[in-house]
Amino acid sequence: MRKKIVAGNWKMNMTPTQAVELVNTLKPLVANDEVDVVFCVPAIDIIPAMEAAKGTNINIGAENMYFEDSGAYTGEISPKMLVDAGVKYVVIGHSERREYFAETDETVNKKVLKALEHGITPIICCGETLTQREQGITIDWIRQQIKIAFLNVTADQAKTTVIAYEPIWAIGTGKTATTEQAEEVCAAIRICIGEIYDQATAEAIRIQYGGSVNAGNAAELFAQPDIDGGLVGGASLKPDFGKIVCYK
Ligand code: 13P
Repeated sequence: MRKKIVAGNWKMNMTPTQAVELVNTLKPLVANDEVDVVFCVPAIDIIPAMEAAKGTNINIGAENMYFEDSGAYTGEISPKMLVDAGVKYVVIGHSERREYFAETDETVNKKVLKALEHGITPIICCGETLTQREQGITIDWIRQQIKIAFLNVTADQAKTTVIAYEPIWAIGTGKTATTEQAEEVCAAIRICIGEIYDQATAEAIRIQYGGSVNAGNAAELFAQPDIDGGLVGGASLKPDFGKIVCYK
């Protein structure tokens, strides 16, 4: 049985002061040992959020990292810095990074390899645009994103990763994919992992759904056989996140 993983993606929200307040507010609400709970926060919030979350079940994650250990890369955050700060998870290749910061499947692959090298679990994002969905190429597109993201990743490493399927048209729009649409793509991702590796890897890997997840739809989405939790944007900044984590 795969353990569910529910991660909040704070995006570019919350000052360090607000981050501490939010962790303190959510602490009692997300206490659920049946689920892995991760708050992926802006880089500057990592250390104060980590302090505030000490002694709780909350894992603090990053929203991005660079694919080199150190050097002349002004403004970037290295995996070594994340490890030193105690970070165990990092979101890689979110559609907003791809759209606004020119990330590609190739840079996603480099970052995935680098995170794994440092023992950080990458939450690898994929997803189609509304146009791609209307063109009927969703599954082909996602399979390509997955195949490139996992180049040179071993089966043992792949088993430890998390994939987040986030249809771009469902992000921040209030328009959730139907349970059937979400399950269809998550199942296709698992098949693709099985083709790249083997059945055992496909069964071990955790696949989240993301895109307008809220307290009202989480239970139905997370009950699907191939949906192992969620990557939550807007609702992760509110007490409602507790209801998503404690969806049962
Ligand atoms: P929303 O939950 O706000 O739609 O955002 C989803 C997302 O992008 C999480 O990474």
